[in-house]
Amino acid sequence: MDEDIERGRARADTVLVELVGRLTLDQKVALLTGEDFWSLPAVPEIGLRRILLSDGPAGVRGTTWDERDPSLLFPNPTALAATWDVGPVRRAGALMGAQARDKGVGWHLAPNVNLHRSPLGGRHFECYSEDPVLTATIAAAFVDGVQSAGVASTVKHFVANESETERMTYDAEIDETTLREVYLPPFEAAVRAGAWSVMAAYNSVGGVSMTDNGALINGVLKDGYGFDGVVVSDWFATRSTAASANAGLDVVMPGPQGPWGEALVAAVRKGEVEESVVDDKVLRVLLLADRTGFLDGSEPLPPVTTPDDAAAQLREIAARAMVVLRNEEVNGSPLLPLDPWSVQRVAVIGPNAEHLTAQGGGSAHVNPAHVVSPLTGLTKALGSMVRVEYAQGVVTQRLLPPLSPGSASDPDTGHAGLRVDFIDPAGDVLGSEVRQASRFVFMGGLPAGTAGIRVRADVAITAAGNHQFSVSGVGAFRLVIGDNAPMKIMLSPSAGGDLAEGLVRPPEHRVDVEIEPGTVRIEVVAQIDPELPVAMFGLNHAAPGPSEDELFAAAVAAARAADVAIVVVGTTDEVESEGFDRTDLKLPGRQDELVAAVAAVNARTIVVVNAGAPVEMPWRASVPAVLWAWFPGQEGGSAIADAVTGAVEPGGRLPTTFPTNADEVPVLSTRPVDGKIVYGEGTMFGYRGYEKAGVVPAYPFGHGLGYTTWEYEDITAAVTAAGDVELAVRVRNTGSRIGREVVQIYLADCGDRPEPRRLVGFGSTLAAPNEIATVPITVPARVLARWDAARGAWCSRGGVRELIAARSAWDARLRTRVEMVAS
Ligand code: BGC
Repeated sequence: MDEDIERGRARADTVLVELVGRLTLDQKVALLTGEDFWSLPAVPEIGLRRILLSDGPAGVRGTTWDERDPSLLFPNPTALAATWDVGPVRRAGALMGAQARDKGVGWHLAPNVNLHRSPLGGRHFECYSEDPVLTATIAAAFVDGVQSAGVASTVKHFVANESETERMTYDAEIDETTLREVYLPPFEAAVRAGAWSVMAAYNSVGGVSMTDNGALINGVLKDGYGFDGVVVSDWFATRSTAASANAGLDVVMPGPQGPWGEALVAAVRKGEVEESVVDDKVLRVLLLADRTGFLDGSEPLPPVTTPDDAAAQLREIAARAMVVLRNEEVNGSPLLPLDPWSVQRVAVIGPNAEHLTAQGGGSAHVNPAHVVSPLTGLTKALGSMVRVEYAQGVVTQRLLPPLSPGSASDPDTGHAGLRVDFIDPAGDVLGSEVRQASRFVFMGGLPAGTAGIRVRADVAITAAGNHQFSVSGVGAFRLVIGDNAPMKIMLSPSAGGDLAEGLVRPPEHRVDVEIEPGTVRIEVVAQIDPELPVAMFGLNHAAPGPSEDELFAAAVAAARAADVAIVVVGTTDEVESEGFDRTDLKLPGRQDELVAAVAAVNARTIVVVNAGAPVEMPWRASVPAVLWAWFPGQEGGSAIADAVTGAVEPGGRLPTTFPTNADEVPVLSTRPVDGKIVYGEGTMFGYRGYEKAGVVPAYPFGHGLGYTTWEYEDITAAVTAAGDVELAVRVRNTGSRIGREVVQIYLADCGDRPEPRRLVGFGSTLAAPNEIATVPITVPARVLARWDAARGAWCSRGGVRELIAARSAWDARLRTRVEMVAS
């Protein structure tokens, strides 16, 4: 990457500067606001093509939210971090880069390196970890992977964007030491790994909006870290003209409206913003275009395209990331992995077994071509000799299920799908398409003059009785069901909700109708605001079915009759999403009750948890095995089957602490008080906070059992001339299966300035039974240093420091001491 940075700088100093000089002020400023939601304008005169941007950390959505343009759906970022291994993370990044290239996207909006400060944080699933060292290492590998394909990575959200409540406006109050020691290092690491873009967050820090925050953008990021890429605003985050321009923000998104444009030209003319400031922004955009192949004369990019084995790679990464939280012996051996030959009848239970939550909600969402459910994956892996019985057990969705496109036909042609018409105020059709979806997101891209989006379908009704239909979304709708009179429906966002509410937490209007078997015509029209051509809404349907008590009883009966019960519990993208924070750590619906009831009738119960962020597991001591599967992406069901049967070792380790219950979490609230979030705990959140409070969590940071056992035999450490510590930890696989061990190095409290135990490095190794492996780990001097706010510099305390080799934050195995030189 260093070579690449050098090449970029050299071009920036010569060719690109000359190109900037050829543009008028109006042309330059026009280049600094999006042309629409997902692109920057082309400037043909200088050979600059239109650069496409796309979210996000779970894949590359492209510029539409549309099932006709599917994307690979990856395990969620916390799952990637749970590998504690830069290899698969870099591979995931390279795959995303390849898919971006295939979609013509040059600028990818990931990774999200904000920290897990509170488990209630809505975007917890999108972030890597509660620890800065783990987050920094994983982020750097991800950026390296994406950019190896010639696609820009965007490190976001700079900075202190740890919660979603009042997310556009809250002010984070953080002391400088905390900011430097925990919240900034992941950004610094990603920038030093060569990231070509950083996104400025919605929130403020120290009373200054992050898009206006010159001290942090110009001061820390650009001057301090030497960042030469583009600082792009989060979507609709910029509220000022001269202040944001002078603070170092380079690009306002989205467009074409926004606070720059003509106002920025005027500000330059009035002398409020120097033209050289604008030139620097344009130069950065051109450098990004040059690096990503969007500028004539750029060096050709490496020829990459999405590989044929992409799905197999996603499956393997997802399985490797899963964490064995608990695995007790049943009849003399651990319940996991489950040998398919040892069972004849398996009950697969839980709503998430049939409808996997493959991803969280919000802008990270992509449309995968398929999602493999755990039921499908397990049925296949167990083989035809095993009888698999499925029972849903409970209901956890807040909205009615989306109307199944498979049960709908286009009223105009009779073909499968839903007919979508874009209509003008007179009802004339401006454009029309057939969709195989019933939840719609339009962000721009509508035919000019669209005043309404009309969806029509003939829905096949097989069961007589009470059917429920609903519209979900925000705005004004007209709904017509069969011959019934049209209904006008107004759905308002919650207090404080923003534009994204229609996507992430839409209100819903339900209608009950008695219908006989046959077909019923459904029509919904969503009203469009011509000023903001955005629409997010859904058409939903529930046919008559068993009551929840009946579902519950059927699940318990299935578990009782089976040799093994596999209960897949979890959250949904209605629970874990951008746009709002969780209010508790409970599994939705009656899932806790379901696990307890199943465990009471079947001693061989395996619980698979399909969630992004920690949940309380009050039943955990009463079941022998708990496998944490994250949001495992499109191949998730196959990966769960691989992990359960042991085809792949679920070798993940927790990148975040799992509490026994919400009350014991060191920092729980994400709610601003009078618009402020005070980060008063300093660095004492996550495992550092638990240790300080003397609370033993349910499962500590770093925990994960894998499928074999390890003996820690020896540790050595030496300090280099540069003050780095080079360690070697010798471990032996004492189990009966090949496995991967993650060796974690913690710095222990010692001496005059008490320090909390903290992670300073890690490494991993693969070893066969009885094999010995030595894991080399280098801890850079900077990681051992602390920020001295009085001096405004990193300082290392001299003297003896203790380093611990551990299997988790609570499972120390070996200790060693080194003598450090003060600096
Ligand atoms: C999110 C960003 C995202 C952007 C574009 C915002 O709401 O905070 O992470 O990249 O939207 O979708």
